[in-house]
Amino acid sequence: MNPNIQTADDLRSLFLNFMQKKGHALIPSASIIPENDPTVLFTTAGMHPLVPYLQGQKHPMGKRLTDVQKCIRTGDIDEVGDNSHLTFFEMLGNWSLGDYFKKEAISWSWEFLTSPEYLGIEPERLAFSVFAGDEDCPRDEEAASYWKQAGVKEDHIFFLPKENNWWGPAGITGPCGPDSEMFIITDKPPCGPDCSPACDCGRYLEIWNDVFMQYDKQKDGTFKPLSQKNVDTGMGLERTFCVLKGVKSVYDTSIFAGIIGKIQELSGKKYGSDEETTRAIRIIADHMRTATFIIGDDRGVTPSNVDQGYVLRRLIRRAVRHGMKLGMPQGFTCEIAKVIIAQYKATYPELESHGEFILEQLKLEEERFSRTLKKGVAEFEKVVGNIRRTREALEAAKAEKTPESAGKLRPTPEMQPIIAALKDGTATDEMFDRVLSTLDTIDGRSAFKLYDTYGFPIEITTEMAAEQGLKVDTEGFDERFKQHQATSHAGAEHRFKGGLADASEETAKLHTATHLLQAALRKVLGDEVHQKGSNITAERLRFDFSFGRKMTDEEKAEVEKLVNEAIQAAVPVVCEEMTVAEARAQGAMGLFESKYGERVKVYTMGKYSKEICGGPHARNTGDLKSFKIKKEEASSAGVRRIKAVIGV
Ligand code: ALA
Repeated sequence: MNPNIQTADDLRSLFLNFMQKKGHALIPSASIIPENDPTVLFTTAGMHPLVPYLQGQKHPMGKRLTDVQKCIRTGDIDEVGDNSHLTFFEMLGNWSLGDYFKKEAISWSWEFLTSPEYLGIEPERLAFSVFAGDEDCPRDEEAASYWKQAGVKEDHIFFLPKENNWWGPAGITGPCGPDSEMFIITDKPPCGPDCSPACDCGRYLEIWNDVFMQYDKQKDGTFKPLSQKNVDTGMGLERTFCVLKGVKSVYDTSIFAGIIGKIQELSGKKYGSDEETTRAIRIIADHMRTATFIIGDDRGVTPSNVDQGYVLRRLIRRAVRHGMKLGMPQGFTCEIAKVIIAQYKATYPELESHGEFILEQLKLEEERFSRTLKKGVAEFEKVVGNIRRTREALEAAKAEKTPESAGKLRPTPEMQPIIAALKDGTATDEMFDRVLSTLDTIDGRSAFKLYDTYGFPIEITTEMAAEQGLKVDTEGFDERFKQHQATSHAGAEHRFKGGLADASEETAKLHTATHLLQAALRKVLGDEVHQKGSNITAERLRFDFSFGRKMTDEEKAEVEKLVNEAIQAAVPVVCEEMTVAEARAQGAMGLFESKYGERVKVYTMGKYSKEICGGPHARNTGDLKSFKIKKEEASSAGVRRIKAVIGV
């Protein structure tokens, strides 16, 4: 291994420099919150923001791109605390948008992995998997032959099925294809004669994935060839760095040294001293890093009870709970966030520019939850205590089976038959066991009270219950939750496990409406209005913007009128490519003007709106038919939220 790679920063710049030498343009990380994609809450891979370009749209920076992308995957959030799971990670990637294909991708991967100037890994310690072939796509002999040409021995190449060697958003439409994964072979001996990169015994550790994207998965499950052949690669920075360093846990690398150091300092507890402390420290470290990146994004969201805001709330509250267990002082979330901002600001300057906002939001959420956390824990303990006492009374009655023991049981409906049987001497062990087996669950009503009164996300209650060997009746919780007409958090959960959306006509139109809305808001309320977030579903748009107070009815009516004027004018939506400087000179609005690469797309809608944006949009403002504001409300301090619909 190249001994000059000391830090994750070294690895990141080595990769990006290498790819630039191979003719790739360096593009900035896109937002961690996908815009106008109703199917996922967070960006989950480097390719995600590039989908339109993988499908054939021209990218302003050319056909070869490289970047490091901020990603969030929270599907395994409960696993965080073990050696490897993280909810936030950085993904290094390089893309060919209809330019080079397997041959170059593989030879460059090999060069980067083995050249002493780059990773300098001994070829003997590397293994590769390629797609074994099935009815959708042939066996990838081509990829295997390029690995062999590079010098890889046959027995270091493994042909594996779709389950292992296919990349694409599972079950969802969009670009996909066979892939070839690269693994470090550790010192662990093979787990058996069939040991391969497909098993998770720990002998093979994946560090990089080259996807050969040549299909567009259709709604009916068929694979249509894409108009162009692309390469999409992904290297998880934290994991690869950990593997290269030969360290057992990603939390033991220098990436987390500063963050964990701060947690130790604040709590007086020692990482590694015992399993529970180590797990709590890892959860705090991971969740605070993710929360800092979510709030600090240019499209940063704030804690709430829906969508990304709910995930954020859950991360912060879980960190606060574990922080309380470790005896962390009030305000600890901000202290940790400061370390994270300092560590990452060179790579992600938005963390510094939104630094105050990050600290303010963390402080607020920590305070909000701390106020109720102690009482909530007491309530939780009361519920657990009741379950325990009932169990004990039942077990005692089961042992005695005397009429007197019936007096110690609470006459609940489940207990009545036992009480009656004890009194007439017909009680059996089985009767007791049946009720005892149900006494391992916290009921939905209590879980909902913890949520509603004490602000405990259901997942926190579930985690606390598990620590006591108990379950939670989440169905009962959900029923009550729905009765309270709240948007189901389960919906949010479901969505971010999903994949990528179709850029449907309806979302394009709503996106166009968002531009008109922003322009109208600035006209009516002034230039202090800036976009803070946008989210579009098939039914509505949601637009968050900076503004200090509630809008009056007159202001809302005026904004609606202006947007409807632009719609009635039926002006074409024109897209042009230009440099950032040109766009600025033309007065284009845009969230990312300082970092969205050199050349950008600018969408102009007559005299009504001009914005830097990736699209897609309606062709003509007239397509929107009409515009109506459904709701104007506070989103967080200094941020208002509008929900609006079109075509009504
Ligand atoms: N998109 C591929 C991945 O995430 C590279 O693994």
